[in-house]
Amino acid sequence: MSVPEPYVRVAAAADIPESKGMPFEVTGRRIAVYNLKGAFYAIDDVCTHEDTSLSAGPVMGEMVVCPRHGSRFHIPTGRVRSLPAILNVATYDVRVEGGEIYVHPEPRVHAGRIHGA
Ligand code: FES
Repeated sequence: MSVPEPYVRVAAAADIPESKGMPFEVTGRRIAVYNLKGAFYAIDDVCTHEDTSLSAGPVMGEMVVCPRHGSRFHIPTGRVRSLPAILNVATYDVRVEGGEIYVHPEPRVHAGRIHGA
């Protein structure tokens, strides 16, 4: 069974190592897909503090650390967890079918201000 549009295939699941994120361009958006213990998540690949690729930062548990100034974002929810960023990143729905990863190109949860909430 294939995944219906508008989902976009981005990679084979085997191509994204555990506790890593990989950057993709999905219908013009910069999106990072992460493998957390075999579950796949997609968030914006742009830090909400300044224009930095989050997928270049280390993953610690369920958090990605921005490689520029160190803000942490919770990958499953997109919530920012430490300054200097104060805005969440958007999250996107991910489906895995036949060993392939598909991402919905529209945000499931839009970026927003939640720091401290
Ligand atoms: S650019 Fe990410 S915390 Fe500053």
